[in-house]
Amino acid sequence: MPFLNQSLFRTDDLSHADLDLLFSVAARLRTEMQGRGHVHEVIDTQKASQKAAALLFFEPSTRTRFSFEMAAARLGVRTLTLDSAASTSLAKGESISDTIDNVAAMGPDVLIVRHSGALEVVRTLKGLKRPVINAGDGTDEHPTQALLDALTLKQHRQELKGEKLLFVGDIAHSRVAHSDLRLFQRLGLEIGICGPESMLPQTAEWANAKRFSDLSEALSWCDSVMGLRVQQERHGQNEYFDLNLYVEKYRLDPNSLQMLKKDGLIMHPGPFVPEVDLSPEVLDDPRCVIHEQVTNGVYVRMALLALTLGLWGGPDK
Ligand code: CP
Repeated sequence: MPFLNQSLFRTDDLSHADLDLLFSVAARLRTEMQGRGHVHEVIDTQKASQKAAALLFFEPSTRTRFSFEMAAARLGVRTLTLDSAASTSLAKGESISDTIDNVAAMGPDVLIVRHSGALEVVRTLKGLKRPVINAGDGTDEHPTQALLDALTLKQHRQELKGEKLLFVGDIAHSRVAHSDLRLFQRLGLEIGICGPESMLPQTAEWANAKRFSDLSEALSWCDSVMGLRVQQERHGQNEYFDLNLYVEKYRLDPNSLQMLKKDGLIMHPGPFVPEVDLSPEVLDDPRCVIHEQVTNGVYVRMALLALTLGLWGGPDK
């Protein structure tokens, strides 16, 4: 069975058949929730009530953590959450690896982990004998965000192949952009990137992305745009960032977005910093799907948990 007891570290872990299954299960769960208000017809709720998910968040999160908790709640899976090092034995000097090993030893059915990607932690995660879902890993991967972004695009487009998606902002430090790139190129999207040179990635995997320094030119090229937060917490000590210049040249706001097509989609994984990467009025733009992304995050994570824990009882079983 695809997904059953399997870990998800990267979107590359998933075949095209896996992706099709996950998106169809997520869409069905959305239909069930919006129609009946529950998922009892397609989920083994008896089995779900015996399952426990451990959420270990060693970096801050609002969307991803609550989204996994909401997904688990809708399925009837219990959650145990660690989200503050100060209230755990980490504050006494225990390592993150030992913390994870000890939580795993208590027997949760799945671990959902956000961490900074330190090698020691990755080794622990890969060695665990139970499924691990990567909930955001340093600057490298955020697979469930990429999946919810793809689901959101699929909701609005008949065909993803050929869709031109532009990332604006701090692409080099964004795990969302890296995960999205890997998934979206497999799905046939064309990728563009726009931002200050210091925030544009230099690695080979971005070689096919169209590069822009001018936001108006970039927005005229694309079909949809994904804003990204400036991740100053991940910048090196010598990385210079001129906030005023950045806002003037790269902020997505009603003025700059005049260059985007009428049926263009405005996306952002969140969190955004008001008046830096996105002006709040953009949320009222009819092209904005940022809250749809958040809603779809719950359905993607419900689908992933249901398949990983063997709870799915609907079609394609
Ligand atoms: N998109 C995202 O990962 O948001 P959080 O950091 O709030 O989880």
